[in-house]
Amino acid sequence: MIALSCFDLSGKVAVVTGGGSGIGRGIAQGLAEAGASVVIASRRRESCTDAASEIADATGARSLALALDVTDAASVDTFVDETTAELGSIDILVNNAGMIEEQLIFEMAEEQWDRMLDTNVKGAFLLSKKVAAGMANRARGGKIINVASIAAYVAWPKMSAYCASKAACLQLTKVMALEWARYDIQVNAILPGYFLTPMSRDFVTSDEGARAVKAMIPMRRVADPSEIKGLAVMLASSASSFITGGEFTIDGGQSCR
Ligand code: NAI
Repeated sequence: MIALSCFDLSGKVAVVTGGGSGIGRGIAQGLAEAGASVVIASRRRESCTDAASEIADATGARSLALALDVTDAASVDTFVDETTAELGSIDILVNNAGMIEEQLIFEMAEEQWDRMLDTNVKGAFLLSKKVAAGMANRARGGKIINVASIAAYVAWPKMSAYCASKAACLQLTKVMALEWARYDIQVNAILPGYFLTPMSRDFVTSDEGARAVKAMIPMRRVADPSEIKGLAVMLASSASSFITGGEFTIDGGQSCR
């Protein structure tokens, strides 16, 4: 295969959860630029409609906004049925939806812990289970990308639930890779460091955050969401045909320290 053609996603259907903003928006744009039809999904459909139409205008790819709460099994079922009816069966799933709330363990309410674990881990479990079953039935293989974090192996105070959820997301990735290899479904994790997104903006644009970025990150800057595109397209395409259960940090060198 000619090197660049193995990154081509023409004819593929991709889903990006939480794709209306930040890293998910960057991934959705990248997959569409590589030729995929893209479904962008979030709890409020309206929060994805602008991103979907901008991506369609910029790339010419089909791009759709749909409502999805990844923590709710009924919503997951409806979403997969709607996507399949609109665009056909799903070839690429990106579990990107996530949330963070900083809190000391002594102060953390049980509901807060559950919210983070449900969104960051259970969501990927529910949606992947449903989508992978379709991929296995179709016998055409598929790609699943889980957006974890370097918080899967770097610990910070006030981030117990977030770090635990991302470590769980990473291990979930590896078990999915083992169980679904026989169906030609490759499952990999992306572990971002700091990207400038709605989730991180308050911290990284504060004086304290700017100082911390220079001290923590060898490249002395945060990433722009567009910088996720290359890795996402590689993991979504046949360029990664023998890569599964892998963990790919994209952090300007932060986790080397
Ligand atoms: P973001 O806040 O822009 O994106 C999160 C998205 O998830 C939003 O679109 C939100 O609507 C969606 N979402 C939340 N709960 C949902 C639910 N129950 N169902 C459906 N969608 C839901 O933030 P960002 O930074 O783009 O985060 C994307 C992913 O990247 C997250 O998993 C995050 O943990 C991870 N990450 C982000 C880093 C950063 O520096 N921004 C660093 C490491 C990981």
